[in-house]
Parts: sequence; structure tokens; C-alpha cells
Amino acid sequence: MEEVIQEAKSKVLNSKRLVALTGAGISAESGVPTFRGKDGIWQRHRVTDLATPEAFAKDPKLVWEFYNWRRNLISKVTYNPAHKALVALEKIALHFALITQNIDDLHRKAGSKNLIELHGNIWWVCCSRCRFKAEDRRVSIPFPPVCPECGGMLRPNVVWFGESLDMTILNNAVKEAERAETFLVIGTSAVVQPAASLIGIAKKNGAFLIEINLEPTEVSSISDISIREKAAKILPRLT
Ligand code: OAD
Repeated sequence: MEEVIQEAKSKVLNSKRLVALTGAGISAESGVPTFRGKDGIWQRHRVTDLATPEAFAKDPKLVWEFYNWRRNLISKVTYNPAHKALVALEKIALHFALITQNIDDLHRKAGSKNLIELHGNIWWVCCSRCRFKAEDRRVSIPFPPVCPECGGMLRPNVVWFGESLDMTILNNAVKEAERAETFLVIGTSAVVQPAASLIGIAKKNGAFLIEINLEPTEVSSISDISIREKAAKILPRLT
């Protein structure tokens, strides 16, 4: 294990273009539940009831209750040493980009700058009818939230299942993956597309893949190094 960590550290520190992709696992030690683990959110709730445009059309109050519950939870937690280590790496690396699937804002709170949020941000709302978008950091959004522009219903500014990602954001992420010299894959089950495809894109374009995850995943077999440990324990050791 020690040797593997040293090899990973050397790759990370000597890489001209360092890119990281994170998932819910990086925030697990902050106290944010993951989605697919034993205590994962999708073990207790059905995605189709809470995180699809159809669910919002059918029962917006229920969907808002779910997001208010998550807002409340996230408002009470903070970043952990894994988030901080990525901030340190951004300062060290010649070029660094952080692509996250998380909507919890903890990377920004920790101080990461070149951040690509693939699935949106829980502290922003957008209109379900027009293009209005705004930051709203209230822990609980009173129902029904009304768009100040068109009177439509506001929704969380996050990507739901069955929806497309913002093309500009996705294109930026693809460009980073294509040009990465070293690509860190941290705390993601790598099953949700198109986020997971970034890993294959990086690999195909010659990146050295380092996975940090408690368990083997869909991309472990193509990783050059797989470290089975908590991100908060390993990432600070790579800085
Ligand atoms: P998942 O819940 O699918 O996966 C979390 C991963 O983190 C698992 O592979 C765990 O083994 C790993 N893990 C847990 N604790 C860890 C720790 N302390 N250190 C390192 N690894 C740890 O979460 P995501 O892959 O992020 O999408 O899920 C992807 C997307 O599915 C989310 O962005 C969300 C969800 O539904 C949308 O909402 C669109």
C-alpha cells in the first residue's frame, strides 16, 4: 500500500495537467450520505419519485421536501481533509481542474477554484418554465417557490435523471478529460452517464488513472492505480 501511495503521489505531483473527478464518496466523511451504498439515498427513496422531471411535474411539494431535507443536512456539514487536499493540489499543479458530480458545494467552500459542477448546485434555484436562475441559500425554501420573472414554479438547479447536462459545462469537462495527464477518480461508483464516460475519455487519451474508493467500481479494471481507502485519509498524503 505504501509503495502504491508513493507512486500515486509522484504521478500527481509531476503531472502537467492534473484533473480530478469526484463523487458522493468524497463528502461521505463530511456526513453527506452517498447514493448507492448500504445507507445510500437511493436505498431508501426511489429516484423516480424524487429526482426526475416527471416526479416534479407530478408532486413538486414532495420533491421540494426532499431537497429542503438535503439543504438542511448540507447546511450543517463542512468540507473534510479530502476536499482540502484538492485545494492544495490546485495550488501546486501547473494546470488543475476539478470536475464534480456533487451538488453539495463543499469543494467551493473548501476553496477550489477551477471547478466544473456537472450536476448543478443545491444552493441555486431555476425556473421550471423560463430561463431564470438565482442563488438562494435559505436552508428551507417555502412552498410553492414562484419565479419572479414569469410566475412559474422554481425548482432546484440540479440535473435530474432523464435530463441533459448543460452542454457548455459538459464540453469543458470533456476537454479537461481529453487533455489530462493524470486523472484522479475519487469516491464515485462511476455508473451515472455522461459523468462516468469522462474516465474512459481520459484513459483513451493517455491519462494515468488513479482511483480512490472504498470499493471496486466499474472503472477499477482500467485504472492504473486503485487505492481502496477513504479519500480523506489518502488524498492529503498525495499533496
Ligand atoms: P454513489 O453513491 O453512486 O457512489 C459513491 C462511491 O463512493 C461508492 O463507490 C463508494 O464505494 C465510495 N465511497 C464511499 N465513501 C467513501 C470514502 N470515504 N472515500 C472514498 N470513497 C468512498 O455516488 P456517485 O458516484 O457520486 O446524480 O453518484 C453519481 C450520481 O448519482 C450523483 O451525482 C447523483 C446520483 O444519483 C444526480 O443527482 C444526477
